[in-house]
Amino acid sequence: MDSIRVFAPATVANVVCGFDILGFAVNEPGDEVIMRLTNKPGLNISKITGDNGRLPIEPAKNTVTVSVQHYLQSIGRTDIGLDIELHKKMPIGSGLGSSSASTVAGLYAIKTLLGDNTSVEKLLPFAIKGEEMACGHGHADNVAPALMGGFILIRSYEPLDVVRLPHPAGLWCGIIFPDVDVPTREARQIIRKSIQMKDAVTQWGNIAGLVSGLFLEDLDLIGRSMHDVLVEPVRSMLIPDFYVMRQIALDLGAISFGISGSGPSVFAFAKNEETATLITQKLQQHLTNIKIGSNIYVSTINDKGPKIIG
Ligand code: HSE
Repeated sequence: MDSIRVFAPATVANVVCGFDILGFAVNEPGDEVIMRLTNKPGLNISKITGDNGRLPIEPAKNTVTVSVQHYLQSIGRTDIGLDIELHKKMPIGSGLGSSSASTVAGLYAIKTLLGDNTSVEKLLPFAIKGEEMACGHGHADNVAPALMGGFILIRSYEPLDVVRLPHPAGLWCGIIFPDVDVPTREARQIIRKSIQMKDAVTQWGNIAGLVSGLFLEDLDLIGRSMHDVLVEPVRSMLIPDFYVMRQIALDLGAISFGISGSGPSVFAFAKNEETATLITQKLQQHLTNIKIGSNIYVSTINDKGPKIIG
């Protein structure tokens, strides 16, 4: 095989109460990378589509090539030549792990092209390098679920320790991306640097409650645990009508509602596809009424992660 096309999924990081430590993958949207082995040593990006010219095509500045280069260095294969096309199929700066999806697609492509049979988890440190470059901080709560699929806990960063969590079958996620730009780098700068002990107690109770709810398949426990007293109060200011949207979603039967990653996307968990669809449609209607465009997605949790599509 000397050419491959890979899709990697969008992800919902934080999952409301688990800042930087929880995330899950969805079925759509996602990004695609086409990678070809060439005779000329080094990495070349020949095409980027769907980015409106926002992403750097220079290999030293693009998260896909930077993370692939780190991987090649680690296995002593900087001799090989690669030509890469990146097709963005999801909005940039959306809070849906846009850079992660591209990075993971690239890493999965090179691993497969080279016939590397080690677990995808081994690619995580290289994907984190891509995040560092994209937003100045190497968090793993987008790249880990994009790579491994499913619902992932980052138990520790030093050393890196990731845990796959179960989730109730039939848990649906409705996502709404309001068309306003919230770069992760900036959304990280506005959050508080220190917190009160009473807030920490509330937060770790909620995180433990959410994880327990996932194991117990207890949707009520999941719902009442998904509250964030640390980050959401600040970041919600960047999202149009955040609290109005939350009330609409809860009134329509959402299990929970919150910011996806660093925003501006928001998401709701629902018990079935119909409810998730209705919530996204009504929220889109609300955003249209206040003259804000949006994209909506409805998905189950994607347990597979990246996939070869050609
Ligand atoms: N945990 C990261 C943050 C996710 O909230 O900044 C970014 O998508």
